[in-house]
Amino acid sequence: MKRPNVLAIHSIDHFALEVPDLAEARRFFEAFGLDVRDEDGGLALHTHGHPHRWGRLLPAPAKRLHYISFGIFTEDEAAFAAHLDAQGVERIAAPAGASAEGVWFAGFDGLPLNVRVANKVTPETKSAFSCISVGDGESAAVFNSSAPKTHPRRLSHFAIFSTDVIAATAWYERVLGLRLADGSGPVVAFLHGAHGSDHHLLALVASSHRGLHHSSWDVGSVQEIGLGSAQMLRAGYKRGWGVGRHVLGANYFYYATDPWGSHAEYSADIDFIPATCEWPANANHDPGDSFYLWGPDLPEGFIDNFEPAGA
Ligand SMILES: [Fe+2]
Repeated sequence: MKRPNVLAIHSIDHFALEVPDLAEARRFFEAFGLDVRDEDGGLALHTHGHPHRWGRLLPAPAKRLHYISFGIFTEDEAAFAAHLDAQGVERIAAPAGASAEGVWFAGFDGLPLNVRVANKVTPETKSAFSCISVGDGESAAVFNSSAPKTHPRRLSHFAIFSTDVIAATAWYERVLGLRLADGSGPVVAFLHGAHGSDHHLLALVASSHRGLHHSSWDVGSVQEIGLGSAQMLRAGYKRGWGVGRHVLGANYFYYATDPWGSHAEYSADIDFIPATCEWPANANHDPGDSFYLWGPDLPEGFIDNFEPAGA
């Protein structure tokens, strides 16, 4: 669905992350439950049973967010290019390893961004969520020997560090047509897509410099989040946060910390904002509500940015 008369990106088409060890990156994301494929000297992140490529991993000396590519509707291509020029963005060459498709430009904090015509991969409605219960006299037991592995269904959202959350929110609203859903002053902002998306498609987290905080992947139950957390712990990824429930977006979560200090999140039952909805944006929630309703204490370093600073 398309919100009438609104020029805006409809999806995160994909993200690209530089990593110092592709083999370790493959091990982490395969343990997480993604379909990791070889691609052009790097890796591609797919979800099992879904045709879309959600992410790319490219070799580099340090882990670093390389770029984000956003999808737009075919009929908006010319208007979007003119809009970007009218907004005065600096056009750039495609970053190393990226195709020149669409328009490349320097985003807030200098992060390379791309808009291109692409399939809309944000859902049209809230994703299915199940809570299986059984009646009297029946057993709900799931035996360890037959417990299913968690396989996320799709990318839900992407959370990046920003040097100025309030200014970046205005920038992403003005340039890409994202919309504030909820936020907590200069600490964090959650932006949704105008043409229908989860409560947040892009989250902005305050930091001294740009970087990736987490990618978030949709699953269908709290049970899958719990099983996912167990499969990551068993695979040796002992650092993480959860299981818990967020306030803003209301999703259940578990974050597995990757080998480089950023995170991959299992998310379930996140609020959905359709293209027909005028969400009552609130940028000034209590900071205590910007993290969680319930769950374990926040681990030390959870919102630290371990990526190298600089251009
Ligand atoms: Fe998240």
